[in-house]
Amino acid sequence: MSRSAHPAGPRHADVLPEGHYSGPAADLNALDPKVWAQTVTRDADADGVVTVGGIDVKTLAERHGTPAYVLDEADFRERARAWRTAFGQDADVFYAGKAFLSRAVVRWLHEEGLNLDVCSGGELATALSAGMPADRIAFHGNNKSVSEITRAIEAGVGRIVLDSFQEIVRVAHIAQSLGKRQPVQIRITVGVEAHTHEFIATAHEDQKFGIPLAGGQAAEAVRRALQLDGLELIGIHSHIGSQIFDMSGFEVAAHRVVGLLKDIRDEHGVELPEIDLGGGLGIAYTSDDDPREPHEIAKALTEIVTRECDSAKLRTPRISVEPGRAIVGPTAFTLYEVGTIKPLDGLRTYVSVDGGMSDNIRTALYDAEYSVALVSRRSDAEPMLARVVGKHCESGDIVVKDAFLPGDLAPGDLIAVPATGAYCRSMASNYNHVLRPPVVAVKDGESRVIVRRETEEDLLRLDVG
Ligand code: LLP
Repeated sequence: MSRSAHPAGPRHADVLPEGHYSGPAADLNALDPKVWAQTVTRDADADGVVTVGGIDVKTLAERHGTPAYVLDEADFRERARAWRTAFGQDADVFYAGKAFLSRAVVRWLHEEGLNLDVCSGGELATALSAGMPADRIAFHGNNKSVSEITRAIEAGVGRIVLDSFQEIVRVAHIAQSLGKRQPVQIRITVGVEAHTHEFIATAHEDQKFGIPLAGGQAAEAVRRALQLDGLELIGIHSHIGSQIFDMSGFEVAAHRVVGLLKDIRDEHGVELPEIDLGGGLGIAYTSDDDPREPHEIAKALTEIVTRECDSAKLRTPRISVEPGRAIVGPTAFTLYEVGTIKPLDGLRTYVSVDGGMSDNIRTALYDAEYSVALVSRRSDAEPMLARVVGKHCESGDIVVKDAFLPGDLAPGDLIAVPATGAYCRSMASNYNHVLRPPVVAVKDGESRVIVRRETEEDLLRLDVG
């Protein structure tokens, strides 16, 4: 799903699909800063062990076991701050909790001045329990339950993003019965085909999210929302999809959202004060991906909205965005221990690790591409074409489909898959009763477990016989 081709390397090149192999061998000891968290370095000494946050991965593996998600706290904070700074005081950045949420993360976001997008009662509970002020929380989802809506309104969330005609009435009714007027946005689909995997594109009309702009449905939703006492309609929301590099989709979305704001002004005499352009900005999973910096994105989005509003003679609304992957994705890697190595003559070498599709479903689900490196030592052995697979009873249990690893790789070596901060722990499962790995935050030479490893007792506690 990332745009990456295969990494370069000389061995078994003939078995790669044509056009996917090029050039001389990449230095397998090099760690491309595009895909690795900021504090990741390889020790210059002969051993060449990789360190992150000032701790080497062998120490991390001894302390916390493998597999483990290792998250660079300084990098997370810096990326969060970069988004906040780029958008400035006249805009809001809502971190999308679905990418990865834990109480530590909520506290970091709070401290860095970001808001939070949640999309379930569980995410809401995590946010509130870690002290995120409710008015900085946006509540999303296409099928929020009555109890979730009630809890969100009682807590005083800053906005609920309405996703259907039924929900407009449902939220209005619940708010009114609680004696409240709930700030809401309406999520619309603007009819853009985002250039990303089908399962994570969300602005075309034929899918479950949002109310289509087409056929006047979004305008009708606005009409109804404006009539209901329990709702305070504060804006329009559009999220066009995920892992997007091309800004043109956002441009079309902004154009159409502002068009709707203009129609609302003309019909109702109301200028809605906010627009939310969602998240979806792509990150580098391999060296071939070229993501944009937050300041470039902020500049582009602000310019588009301002230009569109100027030409529609509207006051420019307050903009908000909801990056998830672009903040947390690059900040973590998954540390695995190599268990078995199986060379298949003329094909490739299967390298089995102690995790798999239960800690990273993205390769199986979206055909996502990842990079991988040997991190417990340096190696100058010949590259071998490898496929990194997990320990699950399923042949689709692939973590990295095609990658070059040193030919002297051996059981017990530690390898790491970078850019697994987003949608890996948050989409982890217990398939085959494999225990979900911990999330270990590292900073200034210290490591701290922020989500502990699951235990067999955890599994058995849920299984009540
Ligand atoms: N806002 C809304 C309304 C969303 O639905 C999403 C993602 C985001 C923001 C954050 O998008 P991001 O900046 O993280 O791309 N599991 C898939 C991604 C699903 C995204 C769902 N919604 C994956 O692993 O690629």
